[in-house]
Amino acid sequence: MLYLLDSGSPGDVRYCKEYYPLAGVTTNPSIIAKEMRAGEKRGFWQLLEEIRGIIGPKKMLHVQSVQKQAEGIVEEARLLESRIGGALYVKIPVGAEGLKAAMKLKGLGIGVTMTAVFTPAQALMAAEAGADFVAPYVNRLDNVAGGGCGVVEEIVRVLELHKSGCKCLAASFKNTWQVHNCAMSGCQSVTMSADIFRAVLGHPLTDAAVEGFDRDWKSVFGERTILSEDL
Ligand code: E4P
Repeated sequence: MLYLLDSGSPGDVRYCKEYYPLAGVTTNPSIIAKEMRAGEKRGFWQLLEEIRGIIGPKKMLHVQSVQKQAEGIVEEARLLESRIGGALYVKIPVGAEGLKAAMKLKGLGIGVTMTAVFTPAQALMAAEAGADFVAPYVNRLDNVAGGGCGVVEEIVRVLELHKSGCKCLAASFKNTWQVHNCAMSGCQSVTMSADIFRAVLGHPLTDAAVEGFDRDWKSVFGERTILSEDL
């Protein structure tokens, strides 16, 4: 499964790239606006160039268009492609204009992630229009009526049934159980915040086990380590 970081913070990107098997970064207008409100001094382009510089050209960077009409989306996608480059995926909210833009971008060889997907039917149509990824929002679905991971499972299944090359990029996670359930459904990729990255890996029993090893070792060998010649 591909793990992506859902963030506009270069600090988060640096941290996750160092410690986790990061396949790329996703942003959206709300994430970028949050950085700006928090006092980010760099402008939009500088911020994205910084993130691209940290992850390098081969890792995926998903950036959302803020246009609503297909022509505008395509124009923004071309600009993003020329300014940011590398493995770029332009995020487009699913809808008729979005599909029209996706078909055009497919012809131009620009990667597309169809976002704000809430049903398997939307996902399949987006895939047929040429989307490389479809991004369902797990926690937002859970907040309304539950079943966010069930929707992801159905999206994975419908894409497989129709032999689509499009991947499901599950997003909007608020706990580790949601991530686990998506993984169990065969979801090809997830994007999550730095906090969820940490939470997925952490467990109190792991901490207790490490403390126990440390205590037992030190009770016999003191502060000496395996690097010591006198063990
Ligand atoms: C990512 O593609 C989505 O834009 C994002 O994960 C939505 O997450 P939220 O529901 O936490 O805003």
